[in-house]
Order: sequence, then structure tokens, then C-alpha cells
Amino acid sequence: TDRYAVFGNPISHSKSPLIHGIFANETQQVLEYEAILAPKDDFESCLKLFWFENGKGANVTVPFKEQAFNLCDELSEEAKLAGSVNTLTLLTNGKVRGDNTDGLGLVADLIRNISSLEGKRVLLLGAGGAARGSVLPLLKAGLKVCIHNRTQEKAEKLVEIFTPFGDVKALSIAELIGPFDIIINSTSSSLSGDIPAIPSCVIGADTLCYDMMYSKELTSFNSWALDLGAIKAIDGLGMLVGQAAKSFELWRGVTPEVDTTIKLLREKIE
Ligand code: ATR
Repeated sequence: TDRYAVFGNPISHSKSPLIHGIFANETQQVLEYEAILAPKDDFESCLKLFWFENGKGANVTVPFKEQAFNLCDELSEEAKLAGSVNTLTLLTNGKVRGDNTDGLGLVADLIRNISSLEGKRVLLLGAGGAARGSVLPLLKAGLKVCIHNRTQEKAEKLVEIFTPFGDVKALSIAELIGPFDIIINSTSSSLSGDIPAIPSCVIGADTLCYDMMYSKELTSFNSWALDLGAIKAIDGLGMLVGQAAKSFELWRGVTPEVDTTIKLLREKIE
């Protein structure tokens, strides 16, 4: 049986085995998918052993996405620009290909929720790894991307990287003049129940808000957005399933249906 796995540290919380199990069932693909806890200082040998033991593909999560990037023989454009890899594929010639499907999963989930993205103005909050992985797919979807980060220089660095690929700029807090069509929170602030310090004028009656975090209860960012009158606030569960679907498609050549998987997972969140 073809083996797949997700590598991370910690990893016990990972929903990926569940998601890929559902995909495999639904598409009648025979495969195994497990979670592997890699030692923080020894991801590389852990991965080598996996390839040696019939591994065909792997997802990579915190803290190994940048290391995975450095171990690839070839990279997708998204992975190259993200500087990180969440999907590894062992090719038939023995080489390892790296993809980054996080941003693709985000865009797929945005499309599930809004009819058209073309030309819309998006405010991307944060400039860490999660933000960087999203910019190219957002630009390719035809969005105009404004990046705001607590530490402005980091937003400007991202703009330097992505300027050749579309309409992208960094905005300081004073330049946050709304409303925006879409606001995406990629910061880790929701983890601690915080909200990025941004003015309420960014939200209008038609603003769709998206928090990359997900939880059973409304995230602090989404709750703030709805209080200010946002038309819709979505959490990152659909992005999680969406990135997994793109990985599955790369490995197996079939596209799983995501709606029922998202519903199933929603019931299981604690
Ligand atoms: P990730 O890979 O999840 O993006 P990261 O690379 O550590 O994680 O980036 C975290 C992001 O969340 C950064 O943009 C950080 O802002 P700074 O660059 O100014 O540190 C942002 N962040 C974290 N906590 C925040 C908070 N309470 N308010 C606003 N931004 C926050």
C-alpha cells in the first residue's frame, strides 16, 4: 500500500490523517496516511527513513516547513515564493518535489464563499509564514493585496518579493482606509484571544472576514468583525481541508469533494 504521512512537532493534534482518510474513502483510493512526530533536530533523517520505507508523499507542518523547502530537488512556483513547503512528493525518478498548497487552499475556500474574487481589494493582516504562503495564490486569483503587519518592515519585505506578480502594497496603520472587500487574518493573535490593532473603518457592510485560525467558538477576530457589521466571517477550517485536497490531488490525480469533509470536521472540533 502507498504510504503518506504528516510530519510535525507536536503532531498529535493534527487533523490531516482524518481528512486524508475521508478523501481516500470517498475517492476509493487505497492508501495509508499516518501522523509522524519528528524530533525537532532530526526531521531530515526521519523523512529519509520514510522514503526508504515506501513513503510516497508527505505533508509537513510546524516547525518543519522551511527545512522541507531546503530538502527538495524541485519546487512549485508557490513553494519557491513562499519559501516553505507543506507537501512533498516522491517522484518516479527518485527526486523529491515540494509544493505549498496552503495559499491554494485559502483561495479555494474564499471561492467557495464568494462568487468572484477578480479585482477585489483584500487586506492581509500579518507578514509571517502564513501570510507569505498566501500572497501568490491571492494575486493569481486577481485580487489586489494590501498587507498590514504590526512590524511594518516585514510587510514591506513581502511586497518586495511579490511585486513582480501583481498588485501588492504594504500599508501602515494610518493608511488603513477602508472598507476592504475581504480581510484575512493570518496573524497568530487569535491563539491568545487578541485582535490585531486596526481601525474599525476597514470593515464595511459588504466586508467578508477570514480568520486562518479555526475553533469551535467564533474566533476573537471573527467576533470583532461581525460586531462591526461584516457581512460574513469565516474561519480557517475550510482552508485546512482545502490545502489537504490540493495535496491529495497532487499525489493521487483525483480531486476530492471538500464540502462534506468540512461539515464532518466541524462536528468533531473540540
Ligand atoms: P505564522 O507562520 O503563523 O505566520 P509567524 O511567522 O511567527 O507565524 O508570524 C506571526 C505573525 O502574527 C506576525 O505577522 C506577527 O506580527 P509581528 O511580525 O509584528 O510579530 C503577527 N502577530 C502575532 N501576535 C500578534 C498580535 N497580538 N497582534 C498583531 N499581530 C500579531
